[in-house]
Amino acid sequence: MFREDLGEGLALALAVPQHAEAIFELIDRNREHLRRWLPFSDATRSPDDTRAFLRSQLQDFIAGRALTAVIYHQDVAVGLLSLNRIDPVNRTAAIGYWIDKDTTGRGLVTRAVRRLIKLAFDYFPVDRVEIHCAPDNKPSCAVAERLGFTREAVLRRSLRAHEYVDDRVIWGLLREEWKD
Ligand SMILES: CC(C)(COP(=O)(O)OP(=O)(O)OC[C@H]1O[C@@H](n2cnc3c(N)ncnc32)[C@H](O)[C@@H]1OP(=O)(O)O)[C@@H](O)C(=O)NCCC(=O)NCCS
Repeated sequence: MFREDLGEGLALALAVPQHAEAIFELIDRNREHLRRWLPFSDATRSPDDTRAFLRSQLQDFIAGRALTAVIYHQDVAVGLLSLNRIDPVNRTAAIGYWIDKDTTGRGLVTRAVRRLIKLAFDYFPVDRVEIHCAPDNKPSCAVAERLGFTREAVLRRSLRAHEYVDDRVIWGLLREEWKD
């Protein structure tokens, strides 16, 4: 599998349908942790749902529209990280992430996103990356802030996750602002 070791037990691997069982098991164990902020957990009922998602992400990768990676910690899959909505006309893309509740608080996502930003600027037609999150999603906003993103805009009532409706904070980082 295409996998990159980032040191101290952290690794990223290109997400492929073969990861479906492991990722489904993670989602199943983290339903409460994920459902407040992300819209997919209730609709993910079986490994086949996850397999279909991973297949579509792989097709988007082949088409140059996305890059989705599995986050590994100590050789165990602990989350997903994506470069999405790659737009070669406007040279923008958005980054999304989630991680197993038991592996939060260790800086794994910040380190993984740092690597993804470098991949975005090095290998994709992208000069600006965005992170979108709800203002009350403090851990997610903190990832953007820690990596030097600017809090640029708030779109009112523009994020939905199950029964929750939130404003959307748009964090932006430009190529020339990026310090690897
Ligand atoms: C959002 C989410 C991915 C953030 O996870 P996280 O573990 O807080 O983020 P990181 O892995 O970057 O870890 C940061 C924490 O590790 C600490 N840390 C330890 N070592 C660190 C290091 N080397 N570098 C950075 N942070 C480090 C930080 O201080 C911070 O802890 P704190 O929250 O107590 O201040 C996680 O909460 C999650 O999956 N939430 C549910 C899904 C979700 O909301 N996704 C985003 C939707 S927009």
